[in-house]
Amino acid sequence: MKVRKPSFDYSSSLPRWCRTYPEYSQVVNVASLSLPYLEPYLNTVMRRAQGKLGPDHPLNADIALFCKQEAAHYLQHDAYNEALRKAGYARLPQFEERFRAHFERLLNEKSLKFNCAYSLGFESIGPIYAEWWFEQTDDVMAGADPSVVSLWKWHLAEEFEHRTVAFDVYQALFGSYAYRIKGLLAFLRDLREINGGAVKYLLSEDSKKMSAEEQAASRKRFAEIRQRESAFVRSRLVRIMSPFYSPHKSREPKGVAELLGKIDAAA
Ligand SMILES: [Fe+2]
Ligand SMILES: [Fe+2]
Repeated sequence: MKVRKPSFDYSSSLPRWCRTYPEYSQVVNVASLSLPYLEPYLNTVMRRAQGKLGPDHPLNADIALFCKQEAAHYLQHDAYNEALRKAGYARLPQFEERFRAHFERLLNEKSLKFNCAYSLGFESIGPIYAEWWFEQTDDVMAGADPSVVSLWKWHLAEEFEHRTVAFDVYQALFGSYAYRIKGLLAFLRDLREINGGAVKYLLSEDSKKMSAEEQAASRKRFAEIRQRESAFVRSRLVRIMSPFYSPHKSREPKGVAELLGKIDAAA
């Protein structure tokens, strides 16, 4: 595990950077929009956990690197989101405020146990999306803006790289299986609710510029890619929901090591 700071330029391609499924662009854009709120939250949770583990705990070095990788991620997503804001969706700040308030509330009102389980929920989904991006979406990403694809592949490769940290922290401090699932389900529910509203808004703005025929084609494409994505995610969630799940046993998606090696070589 190490910190990398590649740079990308998405200014020319946002918002609809995915050519085959332009609607999927907005799903991914909203995920990016949430990250400068979600990832600092993860770091706060991990630092609070570190405080509880004590200064000599063997996980401390991993937690420190984890936080540095997450910080590099949300800085890149900040730049991405800046390009998205320039594309002119008036209500974006409202959704960002919703993300901000949501994570602030979790930090202020929920226990460390809940926040660790919730963070682990997000961290368990990361490697699923690494597999999705690296192995399942070549056709989806054909002709898509390479800067956007590179940003996400770098981010998800590092999510795969640090996949064990939140799990090991949770196991060291709490370890309850039922509560891990509670955190995962709470995270998935919130993700669906908050992100879903923003995606709906962005797509409805896009559809204003379309003819009735284009709108129908757009709805069809969106339903198709969402169905494909959720079928894939559900198939992988089964493993995560098992009491025997451990990210230490996960298979690295094809292309992850190669991409990280390329970024290291270019640094
Ligand atoms: Fe991240
Ligand atoms: Fe992460």
